[in-house]
Amino acid sequence: MRSLAPVVRCLLLVTTLHGIWTVRAFTGTYGVNYGRIADNIPSPEKVVSLLKAVKIKNVKIYDSDHDVLTAFKGSGLELVVGLSNDHVKEVNASEDRAMEWVKENVQSWLPDTHIRGIAVGNEVLGGGDQDLEAALFGAIKNVYKALSRLQLADLIQISSPHSQAVFANSYPPSNCTFNDSIFQYMKPILDFFSNIGSPFSLNIYPFIAYKSDPQHIDLNYALFQPNHGILDPITNLHYDNMFDAEIDAAYAALDAAGYGKMVVEVTETGWASSGDEDETGASPQNARTYNYNLRKRLFKRKGTPRRPKIVIKAYMFALFNEDSKPGLSSEKHYGLFKADGSISYDIGLSGLSTWHASSSSHSLKDFSTRGWLWPSSLVLATCIWIVLLVQ
Ligand SMILES: *[C@@H]1O[C@H](CO)[C@@H](O)[C@H](O)[C@H]1NC(C)=O
Ligand SMILES: *[C@@H]1O[C@H](CO)[C@@H](O)[C@H](O)[C@H]1NC(C)=O
Ligand SMILES: *[C@@H]1O[C@H](CO)[C@@H](O)[C@H](O)[C@H]1NC(C)=O
Repeated sequence: MRSLAPVVRCLLLVTTLHGIWTVRAFTGTYGVNYGRIADNIPSPEKVVSLLKAVKIKNVKIYDSDHDVLTAFKGSGLELVVGLSNDHVKEVNASEDRAMEWVKENVQSWLPDTHIRGIAVGNEVLGGGDQDLEAALFGAIKNVYKALSRLQLADLIQISSPHSQAVFANSYPPSNCTFNDSIFQYMKPILDFFSNIGSPFSLNIYPFIAYKSDPQHIDLNYALFQPNHGILDPITNLHYDNMFDAEIDAAYAALDAAGYGKMVVEVTETGWASSGDEDETGASPQNARTYNYNLRKRLFKRKGTPRRPKIVIKAYMFALFNEDSKPGLSSEKHYGLFKADGSISYDIGLSGLSTWHASSSSHSLKDFSTRGWLWPSSLVLATCIWIVLLVQ
């Protein structure tokens, strides 16, 4: 009689992996940030139509605006909401406040609005406000505690997006480490996220690296265009684009700090189509090239040179140009779509006015419908099949 032990082992392995992956905020590899710092963008209802038309399923917002949560009801879109920086201190200070926030902005919207994640704070570490930095971990813990008490911890993934400012250096990628003075705040978060299986969330902007040193950085390398790339002299790994190199820099920092199992997820990346005079590289042509090539790269469902088996998932920044954003002019011009819903430049997405013409959205179909986790029945069937095959 054949032993069933291998099947059981296989299932155990899969169950363990499944345990790590059940809490996931992402379907496929491609999502978009829906920022709303603008006075002229379409209503949330129209945005839902737009997202469905272009078949983008993963959406991240920076707050928990109730009009948006209402519009997303029954849409099937998977949403990550934000607990914005201005709530971080109060949520750190009080478990009750955390519970209130989670009830009001997450629990009461389930299951009709598919809230799948909470981003606690945005780019807090390295952002210059020490009190906020000190409060971040407590806020994360309190939000998680509230989710657990409400039995939602298995459904809602909690994360906290970081900027490149948390690193001390990023060249060559394998030489990247965390900034020493920030690490005191980072370490408890990494410990906690390792335990609950949350990813390391990173915002990546080759555009910002490029404009800071256009003399020495090859624009083609930043834009995923053909170029010689760079060879990491320590690992001998070759990089043909900066996006992959920046992700591997984060993996190197995590490895060096003892968090080699943590997965990096890209919570923002994009390229400005316009900017101030000294913002070299901000142009519709470059924005189109970056976003077009990024989509192609994500569709391939590939890892990076340092983590070839971990498929990269990313949220593009951003859905719309946001005319009310303060700061550099580029900040207002990251949109894939203009305020009126028409496309900013053609990367294969159709605009709001033309979305009945399906020709330009067909290329999106392929990747958006492919989930990255197999259904468990398929896993079981595969386990049995593998075992029968090897015996
Ligand atoms: C965070 O909350 C704890 C517990 O209430 C408090 O002792 C601490 O001072 C708070 N930290 C910040 C920076 O607000
Ligand atoms: C580390 O972070 C501190 C505080 O944000 C900053 O002043 C310092 O310049 C950073 N160091 C490096 C090497 O980036
Ligand atoms: C790695 O970074 C350090 C500074 O943090 C630098 O001194 C060293 O030259 C770098 N190594 C390589 C191979 O570039």
